[in-house]
Amino acid sequence: MSTDAAVHAEGLVKHFGDVRALDGIDLTVERGQVVGLLGPNGAGKTTTVRILATLLQPTAGVAYVDGHDVVKEPDAVRHAIGLTGQYAAVDEYLTGRENLRMFGDLYHLSPRYVKERTAELLEWFDLSEAADRPAKTYSGGMRRRLDLAASLIAKPSILFLDEPTTGLDPRSRLGMWGVIQALVDEGTTVLLTTQYLEEADQLAQDIVVIDHGRVIAHGTADVLKDQIGGDRIEIAVTDVSRVGRAVELLRPVGTGEAIVDEARILMPVSGGSTVLVDAVRVLDSEGIEVSDIVLRRPTLDDVFLSLTGHVAEEDVPAAPKARGRGRKEKKA
Ligand SMILES: Nc1ncnc2c1ncn2[C@@H]1O[C@H](COP(=O)(O)OP(=O)(O)OP(=O)(O)O)[C@@H](O)[C@H]1O
Ligand SMILES: [Mg+2]
Repeated sequence: MSTDAAVHAEGLVKHFGDVRALDGIDLTVERGQVVGLLGPNGAGKTTTVRILATLLQPTAGVAYVDGHDVVKEPDAVRHAIGLTGQYAAVDEYLTGRENLRMFGDLYHLSPRYVKERTAELLEWFDLSEAADRPAKTYSGGMRRRLDLAASLIAKPSILFLDEPTTGLDPRSRLGMWGVIQALVDEGTTVLLTTQYLEEADQLAQDIVVIDHGRVIAHGTADVLKDQIGGDRIEIAVTDVSRVGRAVELLRPVGTGEAIVDEARILMPVSGGSTVLVDAVRVLDSEGIEVSDIVLRRPTLDDVFLSLTGHVAEEDVPAAPKARGRGRKEKKA
């Protein structure tokens, strides 16, 4: 087995009682690379990261991080990595500076080093002014930044980021992407989990899509987009109960199977904008009203939908009720 890669996992399985959280995950992250682990709620992203970070033991399979076996050499693995978990790990009652110092102590770093590194990180993450206020007074974005800063205290060469921007507003998200990119530019290897396709598209060279604890697709964003073919039309019908009939009527217009998500139909087509006219005409022949219709190139969202049968969260207006998997509760 190759252990040259920053991260190399083969056949990772994890059972929690009857739940098969991971069902044989293979994953490689080359040094200096950013890999995005993409998947809906419950896909197994956090479980994968926790195994790689030595916080959980796999039921079966092997994983090496920085060349070390995560089960047999957890201390060596911990020395190489930084982890920003899905839920902020900051202590609310400590100030930003104290939080960073605490992480430095956990890593048994010298007090002098920790003092210098803390000042450097506070500056870099734009937290210098707030450094001596308790973290409970911080905004969500500031907490996320402090959390990431804490995982960098020991200058890890491999960084695991579990949904680093969930719950952040678009501006804070952009800021976080900038920080992650800067780390990558310095040579840090990053494994990042996300449900935001745009985030994976933006940051990751390589994307691994998982669902139900299995890898269902793997490649660059372009490769994944190519997998699902050319142009598509996206049609929303006003009356959800007529979606089935709409799909039947549209079949001669398309070049392949349509994907349906509630009132939305995604259909592969060729022939440019005249297909829009054809589509509207066939639907109109039976009085099926269209609330929206567009022609577009595939995006990672289409890939996600075609692979998992779910629309990624960001593309859907707030649902009136929970719809099970694929929905995401907002996290603070
Ligand atoms: N400690 C646990 N005990 C029992 N089941 C667990 C435990 N941790 C995770 N699971 C289950 O394992 C599956 C994978 O969970 P995991 O947290 O890895 O998903 P995820 O991809 O990170 O999802 P999310 O996007 O919601 O964070 C889920 O079905 C979850 O309920
Ligand atoms: Mg998770």
